[in-house]
Amino acid sequence: MTEPRAAVILAAGFGSRMRSQTPKVLHEIGGKTMVAWVVDLARDCGADTPVVVCGAHGPEVAAAAEALGAATAVQDPPLGTGHAVQAAEANLRALQGGLTAGGVTVVLYADTPLIRPETVMAAYKAVADGAGVAVIGFEPNDPGAYGRLILDEDGDLARIVEAKDAEPHELAVRLCNSGVIAAQSTLLFDLLAEVTNDNAKGEYYLTDIVGLARAAGRRAVVVHASADEVLGVNDRAGLAAAEAAFQRAKRAQVMADGATLTAPDTVFFSHDTALDADVTVEPHVVFGPGVTVEAGARIAAFSHLEGARVRAGAMIGPYARLRPGADVGPAAKVGNFVEIKKAVLGAGAKVSHLSYIGDASIGAEVNIGAGTITCNYDGFSKHRTEIGAGAFIGSQTALVAPVRVGAGAYTATGSVITEDVADDALALARTRQTQKPGWAAARRAARSPARNTEPGAAE
Ligand code: UD1
Ligand code: CA
Repeated sequence: MTEPRAAVILAAGFGSRMRSQTPKVLHEIGGKTMVAWVVDLARDCGADTPVVVCGAHGPEVAAAAEALGAATAVQDPPLGTGHAVQAAEANLRALQGGLTAGGVTVVLYADTPLIRPETVMAAYKAVADGAGVAVIGFEPNDPGAYGRLILDEDGDLARIVEAKDAEPHELAVRLCNSGVIAAQSTLLFDLLAEVTNDNAKGEYYLTDIVGLARAAGRRAVVVHASADEVLGVNDRAGLAAAEAAFQRAKRAQVMADGATLTAPDTVFFSHDTALDADVTVEPHVVFGPGVTVEAGARIAAFSHLEGARVRAGAMIGPYARLRPGADVGPAAKVGNFVEIKKAVLGAGAKVSHLSYIGDASIGAEVNIGAGTITCNYDGFSKHRTEIGAGAFIGSQTALVAPVRVGAGAYTATGSVITEDVADDALALARTRQTQKPGWAAARRAARSPARNTEPGAAE
C-alpha cells in the first residue's frame, strides 16, 4: 500500500465523567498518555502527521499533541463527530500529499487507545482495495449506547444507526461501531458536507457518511476487532479496565518473546518495557517507563524499576528499587532494600543489602558492604561518587560526595569517607575503639535492688 495515509484523532469532548482537573486523554495507560498512544498508532500505520482535533476548553491537549509532533485543529464548539472531522480538513489539505483521490483518511478517537496497528491497517487496506468506507466493528458484552452496524444481504455495511435513534429491531443488533472509520480522503469530506444534525442528539454524526456513501454507489465494509482492543475510556473505571487490558496484552507479549513470568498477573509493565528472551521476573514486580532488561537477568520479587537498564545475567532484588539512570552491569547484583539512582554498576559489581547508591559510577567487581550510602546531596546540589574497579567498600560506609575511591582500595567498616582514597589503599575514618574492663558488671552492681534497700541509699 503506497497511497497517502492520513489520520484524524478526535479529542474535543469534555470527558467530564472522569471528574478530573486533567483532560481525559492526558490520563495514562502503561505510563503513556492516551493521546500519545493514538498518535503513535497513527504513525505506526504510516500517517506521519496525524491531526488531533481539540476543544477550545482543552489547551493542554493541544500542547501535548504538538509536543508529540502532531498537527492540531480546534473544534469550537463541539457539534458532533462529523463536525469534528471537518475541523481537520484545512490541516489535511496543507499536509504533504494533501487530500488526494487516491489517499485514505482514518478517524481515530483519543479515548480509544489500545487498537492494534494491524487492525487499523486492515481498515486502510479495505479502502485502498476499493471500498469507499471501512468501519472497525466489534461485539461488546453490552451493546448499550454504541452505534449499531446494519449489514445488507451481502454482508456489506448498509448504514450505522446511533442507539438513541434506533428502532427496537436495530437495537437488537450486537455488531457495534468502535468509532474508527477509514474512508477515501476526498469522498470523506464530500460526504461530510452533506451530513445534517437532524437526529436525536442534534449532532453532526460522522457515522452518517456510511449511508451517504452507499447512496452515492460506493461500498462500505466492516473490519472486525476484539472488544479489548476498542475499549473506550469514559470514566475512571474505564481507565482501569483499559489499563488491565493493556497489562494482559503486554504480559502475553513478553512471554511470547521468551521471558519467564512466574506469576504474570502480579507483574505490571509500562508501554515501553523491553525484556530480552530468558529474562525471569518473579511475582509482584512493577516496571515504570524506560526499562530494558537483557538476557539471563533475574528480577526477584517485590522490585520496582523505572528508567533503568539491567544488563545480561544481572540479579535484581528481592525488594530492590532501580530509579532513572540506574545501569546495572553484566552479572552484577543489586540485593534487598537497595536503591540505585543515576548510577552505573560495572560488570560483576555487588550491592547486596540496604544501600543507597546515587550519582555514582561503580567499577567492575566492586563489593559494596551492607548499609553503604552515597551522600550525594548537600541541600543545594548533587555530587558524584566514583569507585574504581575491584574496590571493597566496608559495611556502613558513608561516601560524602564528591569523592573518589581508587581501584582495588578498601574502606573500613563504618567509615565516613570525605577525601579521595588512592588506588589499593585502606581508608579508615572512624574513632578507634576503647575498652573499660569490668565497667558493665560494676554498673549493674551499683544499680542493683539489693543496694537500694540499704539505709540512706540514693536513687
Ligand atoms: C460514537 C459513535 C458511535 C460509536 C461510539 C464508540 C458517532 C455519531 N457515534 O458515539 O457510533 O459506537 O462513538 O465509542 O460518531 N468528539 C469530538 N467532537 C465532538 C464530539 C465528539 O471531538 O463534537 C470526540 C470525543 O472527544 C470522543 C469521540 O469523539 O473522543 C467520540 O465522541 P462521543 O461523544 O463519546 O461519541 P459516542 O456518543 O460515544
Ligand atoms: Ca464515547
